[in-house]
Amino acid sequence: MKTIFSFLCLLLIGMTAFSQQIQSPDKKLTLQFRLSDKGEPVYQLFIRDKKVIEPSLLGLEIKDQNSLTEGFSITRVDTTTVNEKWNPVWGEVKEIQNNYRELTATLRQSNTGRVMVIRFRLFDDGLGFRYEFPAQSTLTYFTVTGERTQYNMTGNHKSFWIPGDYDTNEYPYTTSLLNEVDAVNTSKKYTEIGTRSPIDKNVVQTPFMMNTADGLYINIHEAALLNYPAMYLRVNQENFSLTTELAPDAFGNKAYLQTPCHTPWRTLLASYKAGDLLMSKTILNLNEPSVIKETSWIKPQKFVGIWWGMHMGTATWNYADATNIILKNTDWNKLTPNGRHGATTQHTKRYIDFAATHGLDGVLVEGWNVGWEDWAGNWKEEVFDFTTPYPDFDVNELQRYAREKGVKLIMHHETSSSVTNYERRIDQAIRFMKDHGYDAVKTGYVGRIIPRGEFHDGQWMVNHYTRVAEKLAVNKIMLDAHEQVRPTGLHRTYPNWMASEAARGNEFNAWSSGNPPEHETILPFTRLMGGPMDYTPGIFQIKLDYYNTGNKYQVHTTLAKQLALYVTMYSPLQMAADLPENYEKHLDAFQFIKEVPVDWDDTNVLLAEPGDYIVTARKQKGADAWYVGAITDENKRDVQVSFSFLEPGKTYAVTLYADALDAHWESNPMAYSIQRFTVNSKSIVRLKLAAGGGAALTLKPATQEESKKLKRYK
Ligand code: NOJ
Ligand code: CA
Repeated sequence: MKTIFSFLCLLLIGMTAFSQQIQSPDKKLTLQFRLSDKGEPVYQLFIRDKKVIEPSLLGLEIKDQNSLTEGFSITRVDTTTVNEKWNPVWGEVKEIQNNYRELTATLRQSNTGRVMVIRFRLFDDGLGFRYEFPAQSTLTYFTVTGERTQYNMTGNHKSFWIPGDYDTNEYPYTTSLLNEVDAVNTSKKYTEIGTRSPIDKNVVQTPFMMNTADGLYINIHEAALLNYPAMYLRVNQENFSLTTELAPDAFGNKAYLQTPCHTPWRTLLASYKAGDLLMSKTILNLNEPSVIKETSWIKPQKFVGIWWGMHMGTATWNYADATNIILKNTDWNKLTPNGRHGATTQHTKRYIDFAATHGLDGVLVEGWNVGWEDWAGNWKEEVFDFTTPYPDFDVNELQRYAREKGVKLIMHHETSSSVTNYERRIDQAIRFMKDHGYDAVKTGYVGRIIPRGEFHDGQWMVNHYTRVAEKLAVNKIMLDAHEQVRPTGLHRTYPNWMASEAARGNEFNAWSSGNPPEHETILPFTRLMGGPMDYTPGIFQIKLDYYNTGNKYQVHTTLAKQLALYVTMYSPLQMAADLPENYEKHLDAFQFIKEVPVDWDDTNVLLAEPGDYIVTARKQKGADAWYVGAITDENKRDVQVSFSFLEPGKTYAVTLYADALDAHWESNPMAYSIQRFTVNSKSIVRLKLAAGGGAALTLKPATQEESKKLKRYK
């Protein structure tokens, strides 16, 4: 009784001190705002009666001027409600509800007269807020040196994190309590990651996922990252306060702004159901509507590529084994080919044929253009020109051949992070694509950024990625960017910016200790919160010693789990990443990759626990067909899947691609079984997932014959 009483007292004191409050449309979340005695902006957040965020400070630090952190008074408060629907060009659902309550606090700093607006939007599943600076004579140009935004957590939560590296997100996730975060020691373990920025022990990346002792799931990230550096979180290990850090530039400054302007949205999602976070549309809703009006050219698609062979070491990107190449002085015809070049005309035709035979849309070709002889290392600025094919890559003939076969070639621009060089040449590179029938490009930013001293996640690079997406949009070209800053929902605004890597992809399984079996159960709760990932799933030949190249590594999943990833990890661009010959050995399993859509009407996350398992069902765009993916971590697991989402009374024919009973990611990863049966909305199907395994299912309305022939699942 006594504790309850004192708790209530505390609650009341806490609440009355806050002058402003809004509730989410469903009243579950409450946001409160006030100024402290020193005129500092402070907010706190509740889910029902429980604190999610303790009183936390807001504000920006700026250079050589009074910081925008204190001395404020509230001059005006506005509240409004928005409830609207919109249709994404492509995605996990066909319609998105944008429903929030907004509180806008206009603040005036008394000694400088400067105006800062903090705009909060409270959705049923989370909060977004940002700083806005109207045009004003007392604040014109300014340099941001730090952000004070705090998220004071209520306890020592379990968290899923990667080190706060400004140059890469290609780390596996660590699961630990907040007071156990050690980004420095963790980052040292992953020597396979080439380019890394200085790292601070207590700084981690977003999306940052947490789980409280009483079962609340919290995710912190940002939305609409434009003209600003990416944000990180500094974890205070004594009081569990998280404070925003920003990627610096070469001088250690964070951002250069000019009024009128605003920061990206800071986001926090919260739910007692982990799966709800995966279905949240709050980050997308905080982004601006599409700037592309005519979108018929934007086509979600599946593709194969001259790619995995290079990662296996059976082929090369480079044509010759030469070094010390100077781009403009080299006569490529005079170089001696090394005999292992991947991107040859003949080899590309083989991939085009394979794509055409199996109804896949695109063929990515890496290593088609001159410059790969010594592309990595960043000692020189001029690496690639993006317009000169190697002598054995006949771009005109391939354009003709691909068109004849109804397949699209996908361009590859590895910039090797010589971004000055890429910016200088991008207009010609776009012209080359237009002239040769390419309407999609995969970009890449391996290595240190030139201009030297910049980081992948700083304001300069953020502006670069946006510039590229915009230029491509004008030219009707789709984009898949590797090694870029992690996404923040900008695919709403630029629906041609379809996917990116920006995390540890399947490729790490090819040449390093790889991705632990739990990796793909964490990615959707972290990296994918901001947008689709080009994870490059679909590796069938799991053990890599098969290639006799001395490679002792393996993919850390079963084959069936590789199939399930097409459903559990959404992307409108999905690669079938393995070699055609490996698919040809397992055409029965490949059937799933052929059929699985890349654009959906609806999505249900049926079961999910970060780090353990995910089961997702999605309904094909414009068709009465469902696809289910189930994945587990290193533990084998039985999961019960209820099909109550199906149309009642209707019989569906199921094809189940399952782990064989003796499958195991390490000892027996390629053993699978394919079963067919029927279900209806009352069925509950038990899936046996092997250690590191998964299951993939297709469900389509049963024909009369199927209803008769196939057994009802029992
Ligand atoms: C890293 C990318 O993630 C990978 O997909 C690509 O093949 C290499 N860079 C070369 O560009
Ligand atoms: Ca990569």
